[in-house]
Amino acid sequence: MIHQNRRKELLSQLDNGSLVIIGTNPEQLRNGDVHYPYRPHSDFWYLTGFKEPEAVAVFSNSGYTIFLRDKDPTREIWDGKRLGVSDAPHVLKADEAYSINELETKLPKLIANATKLYYDFKHCDLDNIIIAHLAETQYQSLASHVHEMRLIKSDEEIRLMQKAADISTQAHKSAMQQAQPGLFEYEIASVFDAYFRKNNSEHAYTPIVAGGENACVLHYIENNKILNDGDLLLIDAGCEVEGYAADITRTFPINGKFSKAQQQIYQIVLDAQLAAIKSIKPGEMVIKPHQIATQIIQQGLTDLGILQAGGDLSKFYMHGTGHWLGLDVHDVGVYQQNDQHRQYEAGMVTTVEPGIYIRKDDKINPIYWNIGIRIEDDVLITKTGNRVLTGALVKTIDEIELLMREK
Ligand code: GLY
Ligand code: MN
Ligand code: MN
Repeated sequence: MIHQNRRKELLSQLDNGSLVIIGTNPEQLRNGDVHYPYRPHSDFWYLTGFKEPEAVAVFSNSGYTIFLRDKDPTREIWDGKRLGVSDAPHVLKADEAYSINELETKLPKLIANATKLYYDFKHCDLDNIIIAHLAETQYQSLASHVHEMRLIKSDEEIRLMQKAADISTQAHKSAMQQAQPGLFEYEIASVFDAYFRKNNSEHAYTPIVAGGENACVLHYIENNKILNDGDLLLIDAGCEVEGYAADITRTFPINGKFSKAQQQIYQIVLDAQLAAIKSIKPGEMVIKPHQIATQIIQQGLTDLGILQAGGDLSKFYMHGTGHWLGLDVHDVGVYQQNDQHRQYEAGMVTTVEPGIYIRKDDKINPIYWNIGIRIEDDVLITKTGNRVLTGALVKTIDEIELLMREK
């Protein structure tokens, strides 16, 4: 019913006579005969709830047709069950279902009955069928319409995101308690692998488990170095539940006790993050958390003599303060409308993730070298303000040190 309502809602925004065509992701080969675990396209999943590859959904106010893989007893022995054409109408609430092999013959007739076509080109075989029939039918991109819908989460979507946040929170806590000098980053990464799988979830993105200077490499994913006494450990890891992502970063001392220099930098990032979160409410500009975070970090680094007054902050803080979160970890939805920053609305979910990354630099006091800190939470905009979905995960210096002592 959820997906049926979404299709109805989408069509209500489009002109009468419009036809929507959307395919899912292809399977991806890893090497030899090995495929990556399959992940449906988020827009397709959102509108159909169907998770098999090789499927195309076509719908208009006149009906919903799904094209999908045929049942295949031999392939099903190797790869698992397929829904198949005969069960598809009932299970997927479609009016008609056809084999994906019939797409080329059936789709042109559906297109011919439409006055306007909504579709997004994805460099796949389906593109060619569409292109061949574009001349007769007006065409428009579908993505912006679906993405605006996806940006505002329903109660059910928020429930799934809270579940992803809760599982990820527990895994982070466990990782903090298990970390100690002499372990390797991959041993801590395995805490997340095990905890996510144990809770029937999977990684929403490749986790970053970065000890010491590795934390200053923003997309560090090797996760294979030793954890040294006296260093910090930055972990950016979150799971996905029914497609919905959590995205959490915590940074903590491997030996359980922040040094003075680490405390100083950590507190700046934490102050920036807390102030940025506090600013988030319906009607506020979505750029506001970034403006607040950069101002606090600029001032904090200047006070410590790391940055000259008015100096270039991008050397130490070179990424944005947040992004939409949902079916994609960097979720869809524009940040500006008509060249203006858009405003927060209830039901949006954003991350808030300021950081400071200080690489070795002769002009900076060595006590600060190789400190890389990011603190990232997931924030739901509510009618009156916001709710931090990942708020149960410790993040003050005292809370972290206490949790690590409790192991
Ligand atoms: N984990 C990806 C990000 O924080 O944007
Ligand atoms: Mn993020
Ligand atoms: Mn992250």
